[in-house]
Amino acid sequence: MTTIDTDPDTGLDPLEFAVTRNLTAKSNADRDAILASPGFGQSFTDHMVDICWSVRGGWHRPRVSPYGPISLDPAAAVLHYGQEIFEGIKAYRHADGSVHTFRPDQNGRRLQRSARRLALPELPVPYFLQSLRELIAVDGAWVPSGADQSLYLRPFMFAKEAFLGVRPAHKVAYYLIASPAGAYFKGGVKPVSIWLSEDYSRAGKGGTGAAKTGGNYAASLLPQSEAYENECDQVVFLDQDRNVEELGGMNVVFVYKDGTIVTPQSDSILEGITRDSLLQLARDRGHHVEGRNVSLTEWREGVASGDIVEVFACGTAAVVTPIGTLKGRDFIDEQPSGTLALELREELTNIQYGRAEDKHGWLYRLDA
Ligand code: PLP
Ligand code: COI
Repeated sequence: MTTIDTDPDTGLDPLEFAVTRNLTAKSNADRDAILASPGFGQSFTDHMVDICWSVRGGWHRPRVSPYGPISLDPAAAVLHYGQEIFEGIKAYRHADGSVHTFRPDQNGRRLQRSARRLALPELPVPYFLQSLRELIAVDGAWVPSGADQSLYLRPFMFAKEAFLGVRPAHKVAYYLIASPAGAYFKGGVKPVSIWLSEDYSRAGKGGTGAAKTGGNYAASLLPQSEAYENECDQVVFLDQDRNVEELGGMNVVFVYKDGTIVTPQSDSILEGITRDSLLQLARDRGHHVEGRNVSLTEWREGVASGDIVEVFACGTAAVVTPIGTLKGRDFIDEQPSGTLALELREELTNIQYGRAEDKHGWLYRLDA
């Protein structure tokens, strides 16, 4: 077990994880073959972490076990009512071999906010952080060292109580799995094309848009298929007033010709940690940053008039990706190309991979 002190903020003692090693773990050669070209979300490491929660027992039975199928009662509430949340966070290998993650306290807190909205229990942030460290303690060799590669960590929590009544489950499981990752989009960093979803929305006022819950992604799949049918990489959603919200799995950022950076802000959008970090880096460079409504009209007219000089998408999996085209049912708007998105991407990844000074204290070491 990793030794961690009592958390000074919460007074919580670390959990004692029971560790069962995977006796059929991949050989070094098999692992290296996967790490040579990991893709995204296709291969998984040798172990997983889980912690149980019940109304009576609170958080209990923390384990590190061999990666494998989860046994669930067919009546488990998650299978019927979708009471589920997740996170996405990456572990980066630095040149000296050490393994770090990026702003994990933010993911831990967002998992808590998602839990609140989905009536799930809030995992204390120190337990969240410890779960990351426990997995890296056994699967650290899975953190790749190639350019732009990382180990994508996927924490998730779901209602496992076998009960068909519609109420918050009394038994819940938290899991953490990990998957080596290269570029999210095939072809690396090149501008992506975006399909405007006119018929479907992702979130509504008072809904679950700000939570990272599977249902939001389920709702995005049909419009995402529509995007593919229209030869677009991703879909962008509007709210009921035709303001831009976000993509299926990324936030959107607009750069104006006076240097102002604007990003949609509302309680139906996921508060991205990548976006927050990029905006901080932009502020550090002297850019004025605004979080506010951006209507589709403002976007299209801004591009047409030259007021908007760059549009990009950002998220943990995709990092920073310029938007090259916006396509609707009856229009195709080529987007202006600039340099800020790629400069900010470089600056952010330099911090994440330990190539630049971490002035904001964003890195968190996982392997020590
Ligand atoms: N919006 C959605 C819908 C997402 O799935 C993600 C990815 O996690 C983001 C935005 C970006 O969030 P973050 O930068 O924290 O990964
Ligand atoms: C992430 O970026 O971590 C996400 O969860 C988005 C998903 C599309 C992979």
